Amino acid sequence: MDSIDLPGTDMRSSRFALGTWPIGGAMWGGSDEKESICTIHKALECGFTCIDTADDYGFGKAEETVGKAVKQAGLRDKILLSDKCALNWTSDQQLYRDGSRKRILEEAENALRHLQTDYIDLYHVHWPDPSTPMQETAQAMQELRDSGKIRAVGVSNFTPDQINEFEQICRADVIQPPYNLFERGIEEELIPFLEDRDVTVMTFSALCRGMLSTSSLDDKQQDIFVRSADPKWQEPRLTQYRSALHMLEDFARDNYGKHVVHLALRWLIDREETHLPIWAARHPEQLDVVTELWNFSLDDAAMKEIDRILLDTIKDPIGPESFMAPPLRNELEQ
Ligand SMILES: NC(=O)c1ccc[n+]([C@@H]2O[C@H](COP(=O)([O-])OP(=O)(O)OC[C@H]3O[C@@H](n4cnc5c(N)ncnc54)[C@H](OP(=O)(O)O)[C@@H]3O)[C@@H](O)[C@H]2O)c1
Repeated sequence: MDSIDLPGTDMRSSRFALGTWPIGGAMWGGSDEKESICTIHKALECGFTCIDTADDYGFGKAEETVGKAVKQAGLRDKILLSDKCALNWTSDQQLYRDGSRKRILEEAENALRHLQTDYIDLYHVHWPDPSTPMQETAQAMQELRDSGKIRAVGVSNFTPDQINEFEQICRADVIQPPYNLFERGIEEELIPFLEDRDVTVMTFSALCRGMLSTSSLDDKQQDIFVRSADPKWQEPRLTQYRSALHMLEDFARDNYGKHVVHLALRWLIDREETHLPIWAARHPEQLDVVTELWNFSLDDAAMKEIDRILLDTIKDPIGPESFMAPPLRNELEQ
C-alpha cells in the first residue's frame, strides 16, 4: 500500500488507517475476538501501518484486541497506534463526555495497559466536553505529551472555534472529523480552516459505516445501532441513498470495472491527497479490495460526475452527528 507523511508530525503512515470500532462489538451487533485478530493481522499483511481505536469501542475490548494482535505480530515499532479518550460510561454502559483531567489520565493508563505498550502515537480527545473547561482538557493532553506517554495530540469532532480554544493551551497535531462520499459536512468550514495549517487530517467512517458498498442495496445487517439509529437507513432518505448507490455502482463498473466500495475509498484519497482516511473491516476478506485501489484514479471530470449523481439523488443529506454525538453526563436518561 502507498504511504504518506503525517503533516505536523515526524510520522509516516499507510495511505489508510485501520478502524476498530466494529471490532469493539458494542453498537455493531457483537464481534468475535479470534476473527478480529485475524482481521488485524490481514491488515498488517496488506500494508496498513496505522490502527485507530478508542477505549469506548466495546468498553476496552477493541483496545485489548488491538494490543493482543500487535503483540502477536511483534510489530509494535512499525505501527502507529491511534487512540482516543475523554468519554466515560455508567455501570449500565451509557456513554457520556468527560474531558476532565482525572478521566483523561485514567484512560491513558488503561489504554497503555490494554494496548500492551508504553506509548501511544496519536491520542485524541474523542468529543469536546462543554461541561469541563477546555483549558483543563487541553492541559491534560499537554501533560501526557510532555510525559512521553503519547507522541502527538489529536482532537476529534471539534469545530474550528473549539480547535482555536484548545490550541490556546496545547497544539493539536491531528484533527479527526467524519468524511466520506455521503457525509461531506467538513467541506464547508473545517477543510478551508485547516488548509494552511501544518496538521494531519485523519478522517473517519470511510465507508459511511458500511453503507457505501453494494451489500447495502439488499442484505446489509440493519438491526445494529450504527444503522438503525442513522436517519440515512430510514425512509424517506433510504430510497434516496439507495438510488445514489445504484448510480455510483454503475459509474464505477462502466468506467473502471470496479464497485462502489472501490470508488468510495479511491474518492477519499484522490479528493484530499494529504488526508489519512480510517476504514474499518470486521472480517479479513473485507480487506481484499486493498490491492484493487491502485490501478485507477478519479480525475476532475469523474469528481464532477460523482457530485452530480449525489445532487440528483440525495435531496436531504444528513451527517452522523445527529445520532453519534454522546450526551453530557447531566443529559443522560436516569
Ligand atoms: N473519532 C470518532 O468520533 C470516530 C467515529 C467513528 C469512527 N471512527 C474511526 O473510524 C473508523 C472507521 O469508521 P467506521 O467504523 O465508522 O466505519 P467504516 O469504515 O465507514 O465502515 C466499516 C464497515 O464497512 C463494512 N465494510 C468494510 N469493508 C468492506 C468491504 N470491502 N465491502 C463491503 N463492506 C465493507 C463493514 O460492515 P459490515 O461488516 O457490517 O458489512 C465494516 O464494519 C472506526 O472504526 C474508528 O476507528 C472514529
